[in-house]
Amino acid sequence: MIDKRKNDHIFLAASPESQVGDNWLDDVVLIHRALPELDLDDVDTRATFLGSEISMPFIIGAMTGGTELAEKINARLAKAAEELRVPMYVGSQRIGIVKPEARRSFEVVRSNAPTVPKIANLGAPQISRLSDEQLLRWAEEAVGMIDAAALAVHLNPAQEVFQPEGEPHFRNVLERLRFLKRALKVQLIVKEVGNGISKEVASLLNGVADIIDVAGAGGTSFVAIEALRAREERPELYEMSEVFKGWGIPTAAAICEVKSAFRGLVIASGGIRNGLDGARALSLGADYFSASQPLLKAALDDRVAQAISKIWRELRVAMFLTGAAKIQDLRRAPKVLGPRLESWLRQRGVGC
Ligand SMILES: Cc1cc2nc3c(=O)[nH]c(=O)nc-3n(C[C@H](O)[C@H](O)[C@H](O)COP(=O)(O)O)c2cc1C
Repeated sequence: MIDKRKNDHIFLAASPESQVGDNWLDDVVLIHRALPELDLDDVDTRATFLGSEISMPFIIGAMTGGTELAEKINARLAKAAEELRVPMYVGSQRIGIVKPEARRSFEVVRSNAPTVPKIANLGAPQISRLSDEQLLRWAEEAVGMIDAAALAVHLNPAQEVFQPEGEPHFRNVLERLRFLKRALKVQLIVKEVGNGISKEVASLLNGVADIIDVAGAGGTSFVAIEALRAREERPELYEMSEVFKGWGIPTAAAICEVKSAFRGLVIASGGIRNGLDGARALSLGADYFSASQPLLKAALDDRVAQAISKIWRELRVAMFLTGAAKIQDLRRAPKVLGPRLESWLRQRGVGC
């Protein structure tokens, strides 16, 4: 059943029905600089992530593992990650822990991307019920499977509600994260899956997570994906998804919320589809940006490196046209915020 779920997620996420709403990054207008006083060739997108130099502050998002198709996708993503020097997440590794024959689909990431930072992945509902000993074993197995530099735990309460076989068990998660932070030898990332992280949640994660990935609303909607899976057998979930499929904090607002309350590093994601979106996210203060669905589609067509190179070219042009020679310069680039975002920030008492 879990195999079918993984493959359903891949095909449904690649379809247009999975993309819902707007991430509000269009509300960030970077000001054109007619006198950049730079050559395009002077633009330097390099950054560091978990101690390694990377070609730009971009991370391949957390997606999959566990099936033959997932293995092919992970191998393609990993090859491109290594070739272009960008870090990558893998999808939830529970399947690789409970089903040893599924490990290969994650291990291909280690063999195809030996030198770039890799991020292991577990789900909050699953870890909420593990004892200290079990949790440490799961975390160590997940990290070891791909030789990861960090472990991500995803918070996905909306997805679990709409998933026909979902586990909406979120009691005790913060305590389990605190335990992980004390016990883990690698960095801890806490992420959403497309509904965003607020300043209230971000402040609870101070001293617990090293990095937050905001995974805001306006890109892939797991409420929509799970509802499509539920259509036949759980029509009431499908019906309710109409009410909730746009639920969440738009990515642009989530970046500002998290930046205002969290002391660690911030990854922007959720509907980021090109390098200009990435530049906008960095100008709001994010340290890195990440995308999932477009790279899933590219992996299905075996053109991941082309998709990442396109994002890199777009980021460079956005930097050139704002006069930013280095990534840090983007953070100072003048910008105007649109009325929706400005009103959100005002009402929430958040600066950006
Ligand atoms: C096919 C697919 C599977 C996913 N599985 C996971 C997962 O196992 N763990 C996780 O943390 N996020 C998972 N995600 C969520 C993404 O990491 C990301 O937060 C979300 O898709 C929003 O980014 P996007 O709009 O760029 O797709 C998955 C996304 C896709 C498209």
